[in-house]
Amino acid sequence: MIDQGKINELSRQIEPLDPVEGLSLLCDLFPGKVVFSTSLGQEDQVITDYIAKNDLPVGVFTLDTGRLFYETYDLLARTIMKYGLDIKTYYPNTPSVEKFVREQGINSFYDSVENRKTCCYIRKVEPLKRALAGNEIWITGLRAEQSPNRKNMKKLEWDEGNKILKYNPLLEWTMEEMLAFIKENNVPYNPLHDKGFVSIGCAPCTRAIEPGEDPRAGRWWWESSHKECGLHEQTPVAKNS
Ligand code: ADX
Ligand code: SF4
Repeated sequence: MIDQGKINELSRQIEPLDPVEGLSLLCDLFPGKVVFSTSLGQEDQVITDYIAKNDLPVGVFTLDTGRLFYETYDLLARTIMKYGLDIKTYYPNTPSVEKFVREQGINSFYDSVENRKTCCYIRKVEPLKRALAGNEIWITGLRAEQSPNRKNMKKLEWDEGNKILKYNPLLEWTMEEMLAFIKENNVPYNPLHDKGFVSIGCAPCTRAIEPGEDPRAGRWWWESSHKECGLHEQTPVAKNS
């Protein structure tokens, strides 16, 4: 495990770098131990484009919850085809899903927050732990603008829950910058974005939003707060300064 002093130093070093410089630095420092989780969202498509076009030695994976939109699967196939990238797919543990669905029902996430969190744990959080195991750097497409929780994040931070260093290269990007990059570079994206969907997760838990609504209002819309699934919970421990 990397010590706190080294994390602080690396954090200072990486802060002013652009995504390609930052990703390249981490690939040099942690060869074979850098992975990127893509949900096929717009942010993630930008990072995939950077990784593929710069031939960066990053392991790319996605978590297939089994409840994604048809359009997301189609985008996964198109992305693999366009970039010639190997995007590894992780699935939920079959006995866990079977037990949960038998006991609580196929759409039980609408019944209680507890069920919703259990579903997210089985379908996303546990598979994520398997995907991250043995690696040292986890790259994500988190942006500060997305939610109040994400405003406090750093580009490079220690994830205590997963015991891994997390790098968020697009943290400071605005929505406008991201959309301009996608247009200029002809990056494939989910057609649902053109139908009012901003943040896209599982189909039964995502809806389109109205103009002016919070970007994450369409996620778990029936719940009043805490619009996170547990992938990016922040543990209150000393982080990089
Ligand atoms: S979530 O926690 O609400 O689901 P969000 O959809 O905003 O997360 O995505 C933030 C980042 O989490 C993405 O940029 C990606 O790195 C990771 N992520 C979210 N969902 C997945 C998924 N299904 N597969 C892989 N990575 C994911
Ligand atoms: Fe289950 Fe919905 Fe969470 Fe997907 S977003 S894992 S369907 S509760």
